[in-house]
Amino acid sequence: MPAAIRKAVIPAAGLGTRFLPVTRSVPKELLPILDRPMLQYVVAEAAEAGITDVIIVTSPGKEGIADYFRPRPDLEERLADDAALLEKVQSGARLADVSFVIQEEPLGLGHAVLTARDAVGDEPFAVILPDDIIAHTPGVLSQMMSGMADAGDAAAVAVERVPWEVVHNYGVVDAEPVGGGGHRVRGLVEKPPPGTAPSNLSIVGRYLLPSAVFDCLERTPPGARNEIQLTDGLALLMEDTPLYACEFEGIRYDGGNPMGLLRASLEHALQRDDTRDAAAALIRELADGL
Ligand code: G1P
Repeated sequence: MPAAIRKAVIPAAGLGTRFLPVTRSVPKELLPILDRPMLQYVVAEAAEAGITDVIIVTSPGKEGIADYFRPRPDLEERLADDAALLEKVQSGARLADVSFVIQEEPLGLGHAVLTARDAVGDEPFAVILPDDIIAHTPGVLSQMMSGMADAGDAAAVAVERVPWEVVHNYGVVDAEPVGGGGHRVRGLVEKPPPGTAPSNLSIVGRYLLPSAVFDCLERTPPGARNEIQLTDGLALLMEDTPLYACEFEGIRYDGGNPMGLLRASLEHALQRDDTRDAAAALIRELADGL
């Protein structure tokens, strides 16, 4: 991948059905891990990797996401004397230049990425799925960029091994190890029916892609769940562009369901200096009562 990837697309257009009823009015991506929206963690991961422009794909009814990144001069004025609170109010918008495109219809992840075509233009870009929260320094995107520094114009996806009994929930790669946690992808499939997966290396929501993927997504027919799948677009891309799968350092939390988000919050609280002791005491107290 060429060294400088400046743009990242974050698809955030889904209905969030696993979080109903709260997602009636609060977009899933704004639900908190402790005190910050899930979305902010992935924007921070992008910024840490040197990305300056973040394009968030939302859908009608999820205007709260754009609101979150708007300046709040009223609040800033009221909190002007409290530097710590002021920093928190400004923290999201400061990370990157954030813009929005709207996916009018829920036609799938591949279609959501295609919606960002004009905003990305003719340059390589990253895709980050905000449900996949991975706490690690350096972040997964940074790790992938380092791993791919000498790989020319190749594309990359993050992968991790998952238990075979859950592999049908993911995109899955058929790949050959090339060393250092990297694999050359031979094929990939979205949500393979149980018993048919080519491996248990599942795709995690981080991608480094050339703009040629947009032409591929234009040609991608609906696949699993009758949606236009990014994985199927990558299978077309592979006809002309080498694709690598990168294993990474860090634990992935599935922020896409309530228990995964709860776990991410607890572990985050255990990692943060200002909450560690209270969180540990709370967890012990709750465990004692079982
Ligand atoms: C999406 C992708 C899938 C990937 C997964 C990772 O699926 O389509 O390839 O493995 O994210 O979280 P979804 O979670 O939208 O079903």
